[in-house]
Amino acid sequence: MKVVSIVGARPQLVKLGAIAAAFKDSEHEHVVIHTGQHYDPELSDVFFTEFGIPEPDFHLGIGSGSHGAQTGAMLAAIDPILDAERPDWVLVYGDTNSTIAGALSAVKQHLPVAHLEAGLRSFNRRMPEEHNRVLTDHCADLLLAPSDEAVRHLTSEGLGSRAVNVGDVMVDVCFHTRDAVLAAGERPELPAGIDPGQPFLVSTLHRAENTDDPELLAALIESLASLPIPVALLAHPRLQAKADQYGLKLTQGSLHAGKPLPYRQLVAAVLASSGVVTDSGGLQKEAYLLGRACTTLRTETEWVETLEGGWNVLVPRPDQLTREQWHATATRPAPGTALDAPYGDGRAGFEVVRVLAERLA
Ligand code: UD1
Repeated sequence: MKVVSIVGARPQLVKLGAIAAAFKDSEHEHVVIHTGQHYDPELSDVFFTEFGIPEPDFHLGIGSGSHGAQTGAMLAAIDPILDAERPDWVLVYGDTNSTIAGALSAVKQHLPVAHLEAGLRSFNRRMPEEHNRVLTDHCADLLLAPSDEAVRHLTSEGLGSRAVNVGDVMVDVCFHTRDAVLAAGERPELPAGIDPGQPFLVSTLHRAENTDDPELLAALIESLASLPIPVALLAHPRLQAKADQYGLKLTQGSLHAGKPLPYRQLVAAVLASSGVVTDSGGLQKEAYLLGRACTTLRTETEWVETLEGGWNVLVPRPDQLTREQWHATATRPAPGTALDAPYGDGRAGFEVVRVLAERLA
């Protein structure tokens, strides 16, 4: 079996870590196309080194742009590669522009498409990711869902016969990394001004809905800066660019900004922290898997299981709560209730490869 993986953005490189590991000792051929949607070393190269993923077979170097320009450039560049490779499966990862471009190129060449992380829904049509994931699910041949909830969404859209719950490959990487960090007794490298031995929060903010509205972004930064304990803000370049554009300081009050961390250091930071405040899907789930309370700066989440028992709480506008309510929510301790395993047991990468081979046969 020959599988072409198409990746491009930070979380997809983490998922590729699990998939590349599952292919490594298999009899199958695995070809990787990196669209270059993310190009800064801390959003891209670092993961290849960290997870020992071989260099991509094709690097398209597309970079940033408007949604249409970026997706269109990817389509044009992916077309000839898939035409030459003619894989048994094209595997796309999640909800980014790289995913919709890869899926479209493949289906138009009658190549079977498998969608990893299928069936997630925010039901928020203002999110570019929601269009990407819905369209990809509807054109793909095999829907590799990470949870029962995702399978339910697919079934309600008439796609149940193409869906299978394989678990979430990010669990594989998260648990593997957690065990390595704990075994090494690793301390995280945090932005200047934060002592990892004292209580602190880990924070990220990058969603267009939050970063691209100057008033909302100013309110979110101010709310983070007001918290009673230090906040390590691991700033995505999109956040940094928008803050510079609007004249907002990312280091102020309790807020201490640094660069995004390599995955292992991110896991070490969450483990050392007393909680997480984020708008990232991946980090909400990592907080849950690592047993830390998460406050999500959004109106909804695709990872609804994390809301159960209060592990994750949605706060789209912290500035609309009283200061006391906001501080109490963001600094609340992790719930004492036992964690469930809604996203599988950490062997999803192998399950993906097994299901791809089985469906082919
Ligand atoms: C993308 C995904 C989002 C995912 C996120 C993970 C889409 C529509 N969005 O969002 O679902 O959660 O990746 O990080 O595909 N930039 C850099 N350096 C880089 C990459 C981006 O400076 O290496 C800056 C540029 O200003 C760019 C902006 O970030 O315009 C946005 O980048 P883009 O890839 O379009 O979206 P993300 O916000 O990263």
